[in-house]
Amino acid sequence: MKFKADQTTQKLRGGYYTPQKLADYATKWILHKRPESVLEPSCGDGVFVQALQNNGCEKAIKLSCFELFDMEAKKASKLCSGLGFKNFTVTEGDFLVWANNKINESQSLFDAVVGNPPFIRYQFLEKSFQEQTELVFKQLGQKFTKHTNAWVPFLFASLALLKNGGRMAMVIPSEIIHVMHAQSLRSYMGKVCSKIVIIDPKEIWFEDTLQGAVIIMAEKKKYTEILSEGVAIVSVNGLSFLNECPEALFQRALGINGETVEGKWTKAILEISELTLIKRIISHESVHRFMDIAKVDVGIVTGANKFFLVDNETVNRYNLEAYAHPMFGRSQHCPGIFYDEAQHESNQLKNLPTNFLYIEDDYNKLPSKVKSYIKLGESENLHERYKCRIRKPWYKVPSIYSTEIGMLKRCHVAPRLILNQVGAYTTDTAYRVTSMFTDAENLVCSFLNPLTAITAELEGRYYGGGVLELVPSEIEKIYIPVIEGYQHNSASLNQMIKDGKVEDAIRMQGEAILTELGFSEEDNEQLMKIWQKLRDRRLRK
Ligand SMILES: C[S@@+](CC[C@H](N)C(=O)[O-])C[C@H]1O[C@@H](n2cnc3c(N)ncnc32)[C@H](O)[C@@H]1O
Repeated sequence: MKFKADQTTQKLRGGYYTPQKLADYATKWILHKRPESVLEPSCGDGVFVQALQNNGCEKAIKLSCFELFDMEAKKASKLCSGLGFKNFTVTEGDFLVWANNKINESQSLFDAVVGNPPFIRYQFLEKSFQEQTELVFKQLGQKFTKHTNAWVPFLFASLALLKNGGRMAMVIPSEIIHVMHAQSLRSYMGKVCSKIVIIDPKEIWFEDTLQGAVIIMAEKKKYTEILSEGVAIVSVNGLSFLNECPEALFQRALGINGETVEGKWTKAILEISELTLIKRIISHESVHRFMDIAKVDVGIVTGANKFFLVDNETVNRYNLEAYAHPMFGRSQHCPGIFYDEAQHESNQLKNLPTNFLYIEDDYNKLPSKVKSYIKLGESENLHERYKCRIRKPWYKVPSIYSTEIGMLKRCHVAPRLILNQVGAYTTDTAYRVTSMFTDAENLVCSFLNPLTAITAELEGRYYGGGVLELVPSEIEKIYIPVIEGYQHNSASLNQMIKDGKVEDAIRMQGEAILTELGFSEEDNEQLMKIWQKLRDRRLRK
């Protein structure tokens, strides 16, 4: 395949090369087992070939490299022969085509795999690569999703082609730990690998991509029936970990089996003692799974927020008073834990979109100014948008109700519930929460504590910038301690959150609620540390 080696192409082929020192380290680990055959599925110009040489690898080793980009493949081939490797191939083309044929023949071919697979979202892959990606999932009996990324089928295929007892060391995106689309890969790895260790740096190794990367070291089970030791995550700061022998690091890391392999791997960041503390607190009868005590629903989906969420000026200009209802949707519009009259008025004064428009009447029955507002929307083709055109009339938004509690989808420091005291509506930036167990105010105040913040970090997902996002199914899994009838100082809590003292509020509430449940202040402090560790990792502090 021919490409022009420009910037965009680099991105489109996922061509970010591994720093030599990291490649040397990963390679040293696979060589520890003296493999006779090694696969490099996407070799670029041969950083991992050089790493084999730097680690004194036998020149007779069977080395199979693949590379899509012809110029890079030639460089890698030249490097292999220049370094004196006697039994190598550098195949120019799509690794997955070759891998799919071998998987089809049920061939496990390699003692070891090393490399750094391409990072390209499925939607940006060319059709033929998309087909090969889907085929990998299909052949291995895995559930395919279009949210996948090129590195996922590369790992699946590499592991499938690895012999029992073989080793794989790869530089891959850190999102393997938590993204939903990699769940099938995590489960597959938990099934076929005897132990998985992830080296998780504080820094971003590939600055250009803004994509966190990790080194994953996985050993395939010798016999399928043996139990997996699970996943271990070794957090590192700087490059000083390179001074420790990778084999020693792999052996000392304690894998956490069972539940960790099955779900997200974020838990593996925590020490066994930390997980034990969390388990001890969660097992208290007054600590509940969110799904057992509250209902979470998505907010109103308008299909055209600009049209349906408007400021007072627009309401006045088009005589929309009879159709306007209070709403909030952004963290800045609701900085505390109460959305009350005072907050609503202050937002109105700032001319924020505080009104949600619910117009249900037939067009003919509407006042002329309202008609002209609808015409304005139609002149911008809003009525042709999918969500709008599937309802009649297009401007009548469905599923209109508000709940006593709201929760913003995304947060920076920690998630919080918002007591909705003015019956405000929320749209797709927020969820509608209904308490089924205690009163709404108690639920909102109890939500602020380190245990809930920890479980939100463990269940949620985040992207490049570090903003934490929780979908309803993830919120349902978080834990919350609730004491029926507890009197919180909610006004001062609200003020603390408004003043940005989120951490203080979480500590204070944790101390109050957890000690009431019989836990110690030290337990609360320990929970605070665990939460800070997870939060700081997410925010790359
Ligand atoms: C992240 S780079 C890593 C290169 C090298 N392994 C390293 O670590 O420096 C990924 C490489 O995969 C290549 N590539 C992309 N799609 C490929 C495919 N389907 N088959 C083989 N190589 C591919 C890209 O051209 C790029 O050189």
